[in-house]
Amino acid sequence: MSSITVRDNPENDTVEIRFSDEPTDGPSEPYIRSYNNTRDNAFGPLDAFDCEYIFRQTSRAGPELHRLGSILWCHAYLQLCPKSCYVLENQYGTAVGYIIGTSDTSVMAHVMRTDLVDMLSDRFTQVKTDDPPEVVALKGSIVTGDCSMLLRKPDLLAQYPAHLHINLLPEYRKKGWGAKLMKVFLEKVKRLGARGVHLGMHAENTNAKRFYERLGFRQCEEELDGGLSGEMGRIRNAICMLKKLD
Ligand SMILES: CC(C)(COP(=O)(O)OP(=O)(O)OC[C@H]1O[C@@H](n2cnc3c(N)ncnc32)[C@H](O)[C@@H]1OP(=O)(O)O)[C@@H](O)C(=O)NCCC(=O)NCCS
Repeated sequence: MSSITVRDNPENDTVEIRFSDEPTDGPSEPYIRSYNNTRDNAFGPLDAFDCEYIFRQTSRAGPELHRLGSILWCHAYLQLCPKSCYVLENQYGTAVGYIIGTSDTSVMAHVMRTDLVDMLSDRFTQVKTDDPPEVVALKGSIVTGDCSMLLRKPDLLAQYPAHLHINLLPEYRKKGWGAKLMKVFLEKVKRLGARGVHLGMHAENTNAKRFYERLGFRQCEEELDGGLSGEMGRIRNAICMLKKLD
């Protein structure tokens, strides 16, 4: 029989959760903990490097878009809302999965436009004449804080204000860690006041869709693209999933 040990540290608002009978002070199976953004060496927060690696391994964007994509879909959250970011750490102290997001998408978008852009060098924000269209689009999203499919749907956003991204390295999938990460994240954003959560995903990622549906998410049933795709809850190749938080 496995047990759950939760170490809550209210002083810095972090949490550590272990799901086994293993002693908690030695190497054991992976466990979930808050994202650690402290700079304990010259290279900056180690978690950020691990998260970048996880992002690159799981991203559907081509390698040429990895840097910009990781800013928009990964580092923006680690920098701007670290308190609602969690990692799965393996026995070697490496983050091998993450769930990152915000309890309030409107605030996130605003802070991206103001603070994030100031943190970045021009090469990530200024469009060059020879930039391909995908690069122009990503730079545009960073500069305008375009972090969610619901930003142009204020009524829906008010009902589902939180949003998230979740990724695990292949060898840690299908072992229940995704569901556990989701539970920790949803509890956090609920405590922060969110009554619902949404996410955007690639329409062809049927594995992820089944995972989300298993956890109670449903595809948005409103038109998001003015009828272009002919499908509810879709914008180009992305679909929006929703879940109420009771
Ligand atoms: C999607 C992802 C986060 C799911 O995490 P996971 O740890 O593999 O999922 P879990 O093992 O916690 O599964 C939770 C539930 O979802 C179901 N599920 C997970 N993957 C599934 C799949 N491919 N098909 C059907 N059901 C699936 C599980 O069966 C389980 O249901 P159960 O409780 O009835 O057993 C993970 O597989 C992943 O990182 N994939 C690659 C990156 C990605 O696609 N991220 C999402 C981008 S939108």
